[in-house]
Amino acid sequence: MATNKPTAYNNRLGLKGWVYAGKYSFERYLYIGHRLSGLGLIAYMVLHIIETANRMRGEEAWAALMGLFALPMFKVIEYLLFAAAVFHAMNGTRLLLVELGFFLGKPEEPVFPYKSSVMKHRPLTYIIMLLAGLLMALGGSSLFFD
Ligand code: HEM
Repeated sequence: MATNKPTAYNNRLGLKGWVYAGKYSFERYLYIGHRLSGLGLIAYMVLHIIETANRMRGEEAWAALMGLFALPMFKVIEYLLFAAAVFHAMNGTRLLLVELGFFLGKPEEPVFPYKSSVMKHRPLTYIIMLLAGLLMALGGSSLFFD
């Protein structure tokens, strides 16, 4: 008896599908970075609340915790947090601008071969990512070399 139920999905990428940009290229990697940095910032926020709650355990416990955070390893973690915040804020600003319709040009009749609106705002993407890189470099130099 014939059924309409599909039996096999040959186009499934599994976990690779989460990180493989394929033809979607640069913006797709930014999308992955945006999701990871967003989740990282939320994880930090939760840990930060737990960490500051330690103040209630008394001055000694607090001082011990602060001593732990003075380890060089935490400087690197602090920088990663800063870099994630810069990336998320800059890329988020790009997304807000584009989602509000800026930098996409005038709407056109869709004629084959279709053009992607992604290419229209690619220059903005490059400028914003350059600015993000600059901010990360400045932040890194003041955190590690001042
Ligand atoms: C200047 C600050 C920020 C800006 C401009 C910004 C912008 C955005 C935008 C536009 C989106 C939607 C992306 C889309 O269209 O799919 C987004 C998603 C998100 N943001 Fe932010 N954001 C900021 C700060 C934060 C902070 C502080 C956190 C965490 C505490 C955060 C966590 C997230 C998460 C988890 C998502 C969902 C990501 C996903 O679905 O892939 N964001 N942000």
